[in-house]
Amino acid sequence: MRNKVTVVGGGNVGASCALNVAFKELADVVLVDILEGVPQGKGLDMLQAGPIEGYDVRVTGANDYGATANSDVVVITAGLARKPGMSRDDLLMANYEVIKNVTEQVVKYSPDAILVLVTNPLDAMCWVAQKVSKFPRNRVIGMAGVLDTARFRTFIAEELSVSIENVTAVVLGGHGDTMVPVVRLSNVSGIPLTELMDQGTLDRLVARTRNGGAEIVKYLKTGSAYYAPAAAAVEMVESILKDKKKVLPCAALLEGEYGIHGLFVGVPVKLGAGGIEKIYEIHLTAEEQAMLAHSASAVQELIDVLTPKMASA
Ligand SMILES: NC(=O)c1ccc[n+]([C@@H]2O[C@H](COP(=O)([O-])OP(=O)(O)OC[C@H]3O[C@@H](n4cnc5c(N)ncnc54)[C@H](O)[C@@H]3O)[C@@H](O)[C@H]2O)c1
Repeated sequence: MRNKVTVVGGGNVGASCALNVAFKELADVVLVDILEGVPQGKGLDMLQAGPIEGYDVRVTGANDYGATANSDVVVITAGLARKPGMSRDDLLMANYEVIKNVTEQVVKYSPDAILVLVTNPLDAMCWVAQKVSKFPRNRVIGMAGVLDTARFRTFIAEELSVSIENVTAVVLGGHGDTMVPVVRLSNVSGIPLTELMDQGTLDRLVARTRNGGAEIVKYLKTGSAYYAPAAAAVEMVESILKDKKKVLPCAALLEGEYGIHGLFVGVPVKLGAGGIEKIYEIHLTAEEQAMLAHSASAVQELIDVLTPKMASA
């Protein structure tokens, strides 16, 4: 049996996800978008790269969900991206409608799928997808931490002039300006970061990680990052489809872990064939716990705005 991955949203992130899935020969891919012809054209284009690159998977595009039936994993990237000067939270109401509609369709055709959310504001959109799908929490997962840690790792490796392969970083919390890079648990081949750089440098890299998305938006002007976000989402898809059980920072629905109830927040999880197979509750210092609580309260504010809308829907 071949695996099937649907990517909803055939824009920058979605198309890059579809291409990465094909390159890695993880599954047949169905790309869905509301724009007529765009997913079909991009799908055909990717299919035709197969003989050159040597990947043997089917890539197709569609405007409806018939072709997505029985997907193993559905990556949701549909929605608006941030424009310069726009916060992730400005996207809230526009993308709420998109995620609600998309999730209804996805669930109808793939009731057993694992959902990987990418659309921003990420933690709030995960909440919408979980409420609409009524899927158990192991099957609704948000991509943010893999990207945030990749950015942090990139900056650390660049600063120290060491291989990115040796850098391990831990980032918790909501995807946004309140994310919590846990410097204490980040290291280079086991050597704590605090022994490798002074506090000023650490603070600078943490700040750059927090603003990692905005830095790219400022350059691109008409959109936001997509190569690294797509690579991050596909690392999660790969861990699920190959049952690799990678421990990755992902947005998960917390039910008491870290003292947080009913919110999606970035935490370390084990990703395997069952989706989220374990949530790791690591011991935090009082300061880290306070930063995480602050981050969760920023997510809660968005949920407070969405709750009446969900109730009347
Ligand atoms: N979680 C993260 O770390 C992260 C990182 C990067 C981007 N993002 C988010 O991912 C989303 C996509 O970003 P992008 O750069 O690909 O944007 P994009 O504008 O290039 O693509 C979005 C696509 O979604 C499609 N779309 C809109 N409504 C739809 C619907 N109802 N059904 C199907 N398709 C629909 C659009 O036609 C468009 O092709 C944005 O919300 C962005 O903020 C999140």
